[in-house]
Amino acid sequence: MKTIRMPGGDEVAALGQGTWYLGDDPATHDREIAALREGLDQGMTLIDTAEMYGNGRAESLVGEAIAGRRDEAYLVSKVLPSNAGFEATIRACEASLSRLGTDCLDLYLLHWQGREPFGETVAAFERLQVDGKIRHYGVSNLDLAASQAFLDAGGRAMQANQLLYNLDQRGIEWDLLPWLDERGIVTMAYSPFDGGALLRHRELVDFATARDMTPAQVCLAWLASHKRVLPIPKSADPARVAENAEAMHWTLDAADLATLDSLFDPPTGPSALSIY
Ligand SMILES: NC(=O)c1ccc[n+]([C@@H]2O[C@H](COP(=O)([O-])OP(=O)(O)OC[C@H]3O[C@@H](n4cnc5c(N)ncnc54)[C@H](OP(=O)(O)O)[C@@H]3O)[C@@H](O)[C@H]2O)c1
Repeated sequence: MKTIRMPGGDEVAALGQGTWYLGDDPATHDREIAALREGLDQGMTLIDTAEMYGNGRAESLVGEAIAGRRDEAYLVSKVLPSNAGFEATIRACEASLSRLGTDCLDLYLLHWQGREPFGETVAAFERLQVDGKIRHYGVSNLDLAASQAFLDAGGRAMQANQLLYNLDQRGIEWDLLPWLDERGIVTMAYSPFDGGALLRHRELVDFATARDMTPAQVCLAWLASHKRVLPIPKSADPARVAENAEAMHWTLDAADLATLDSLFDPPTGPSALSIY
């Protein structure tokens, strides 16, 4: 598995695993556990989850999947904006740790901006670091102005901004992605398949077939062609997880990238940040 260097020095897998909607249905429990473990076997060791997902059920499922394998995983979770005050962040983190069956998160993100001042959340993150409950912190769904405001509030050790980014949602390329890149901050690309819709795009299917790739592999290889972009696809299917991992063996050349630009327009100006 290729790796990406975080600003704090961690070398993490360049392809992670999403977990939104995992843990919701007892009927698919075993398959979901198998999918997460397949991801670990394939080197997709960064696992992204959140207290929000299934009201903690996704974190519990991840905890089960990594039981006995904690050292292999790079665990990322997120605090809800409604819990982003100082005391509430600490309580939320402790609850996440309990569900995940671990005593320390590798990376803890603010899920999106709420009403709490960033300074409160940063102070909580720093306390959690001192107490050994998180190793690093970052943000999600912050546009350029909010990302700058987070740094100005003291959050200069921000490791990542987790953002909606895929072939069909390229708005961040205009200003936010270069801004993060200049600072060495990693962009974690969520919904790399646009929740699955992109995989049915006719021209993308044709592009993939002509290269002996699958549409999912093209989506991931395209994201991975950006130096500091780390996609976090979600799949509850072990075979699809293996297919997704294989995308990291492909490199799209300049002609491929130009063809994809002609199919999926790059931005031509600033736009409001898209969020799911
Ligand atoms: N920070 C945020 O606000 C935020 C927002 C959204 C998402 N996220 C994170 O990003 C992760 C990924 O985003 P997402 O779950 O929205 O969507 P996604 O990863 O773009 O797409 C997931 C969908 O694609 C399907 N899929 C996966 N691999 C496939 C393959 N090789 N072939 C065909 N279909 C495939 C999955 O079905 P199966 O499961 O049946 O394979 C699922 O329906 C989330 O799980 C979450 O961890 C973060």
